[in-house]
Amino acid sequence: MKSVALLNAAQLVTLAGPARPRIGPEMLDVALVRDGGMLIRNGQIEMVGTSAEVEKESAGAEVIDAGGRVVLPGFVDAHTHLVFAGSRLDDFERRARGETYEQIAGAGGGIWSTVARTRAASDVDLLRDARRHAQWFLRCGTTTVEAKSGYGLTLEDELKILSVIQQLNRETSLQSVPTFLGAHAIPREDQESPERYVDLVVNEMLPRVASEKLAEFCDIFCEQGYFNLAQSRRILTAAQGLGLKLRMHVDQLTNSGGARLAAELGAATADHLEKTDGEGIAAMKTARVQPVLLPGSVYALGSTIYPRAREMIEAGLAVVLATDFNPGSSPTPSMPMVLSLACTQMRMSPAEALSACTVNAAYSLSRGDRIGSLEAGKLANFALYDVEDYRELAYWFGFTRAESVYVRGEPVDLAG
Ligand code: NIG
Ligand code: FE
Repeated sequence: MKSVALLNAAQLVTLAGPARPRIGPEMLDVALVRDGGMLIRNGQIEMVGTSAEVEKESAGAEVIDAGGRVVLPGFVDAHTHLVFAGSRLDDFERRARGETYEQIAGAGGGIWSTVARTRAASDVDLLRDARRHAQWFLRCGTTTVEAKSGYGLTLEDELKILSVIQQLNRETSLQSVPTFLGAHAIPREDQESPERYVDLVVNEMLPRVASEKLAEFCDIFCEQGYFNLAQSRRILTAAQGLGLKLRMHVDQLTNSGGARLAAELGAATADHLEKTDGEGIAAMKTARVQPVLLPGSVYALGSTIYPRAREMIEAGLAVVLATDFNPGSSPTPSMPMVLSLACTQMRMSPAEALSACTVNAAYSLSRGDRIGSLEAGKLANFALYDVEDYRELAYWFGFTRAESVYVRGEPVDLAG
């Protein structure tokens, strides 16, 4: 049995608390232990306390000396588009010249251009790029991500992406939770017959994804010009019938009633929500849908309309923050950058923001019993930062990196 003792953390930010997501003022309590330590056995946390308390119990254990640094649980990034080919540098320049996301998509950029490149890429190419992305996440202190398909939009290409996610999971320290997002956009070839594509998703893609157990969740881009409410309801109901849980991209560009649909279907999460109104917030509260807020995409699209985080917290929603890592609207793997945006643009406190991207995110992925906080019985996934106060992660912006990262008690090679 391998024993490891982590000692001398200036702040061990545990996020310990009730076995459910945090709401309202609970999000302000990060359960911080000063001069903290942890005893880890076989990759699992056995004890959390002060260094002195842990040291007493750790005879024979290998020691990790945190040397006065801050220790946090590994971030849980509950919304990423991890697997894609290429970049969207042309879109980026066009936006700088003042074109909108919709105009760029209409002119041949947007999701479609990434789909074309992802279809053309082999699984070997995609896996190579995905490994590189995985390293970026780990260096930022993220140890679990939700990873969506959605840049294939044919049966074969969607399965290719989900298999890459599965393979990545086997070979890297970053843990991925797979989500099927075949309904990310209507493919170019089906623009005139969108129902044909909806049929394909329902009759062919979903049954294969479910029978091969390639995804835990099903997602959809519910938005004008993408999938309307009726199409979304049909696809998501079919997914639920096959045992998949639901996450949804809603109300990003227009308030199209997506949050209310997420509530009606009992989705685990409704994501984006930039245009959601009070009615949508109330519906999510009643149905216990967790909002996943993605300020990186608001920032990168050059918008100033952030989701109404304060109203959501005050309404008692278990708010989650995520990067939305993707080549088009949010090219960042950095949760510290998201913390900065949450505090400066959405008036969340550093503690609320941290609760949102650790413990609350873990519950949104049905993994709150294993990850998201540093408590006895959970996995020893954590990161050390060379700061004195955890609030510095949200305060210094644009460069924060974890100094070292551990997954199941083992150090991750951040250089490779
Ligand atoms: O979450 N909104 C839809 N999907 C992504 C963007 C994907 C892309 O532009 O490639 C998002 O923002
Ligand atoms: Fe997204």
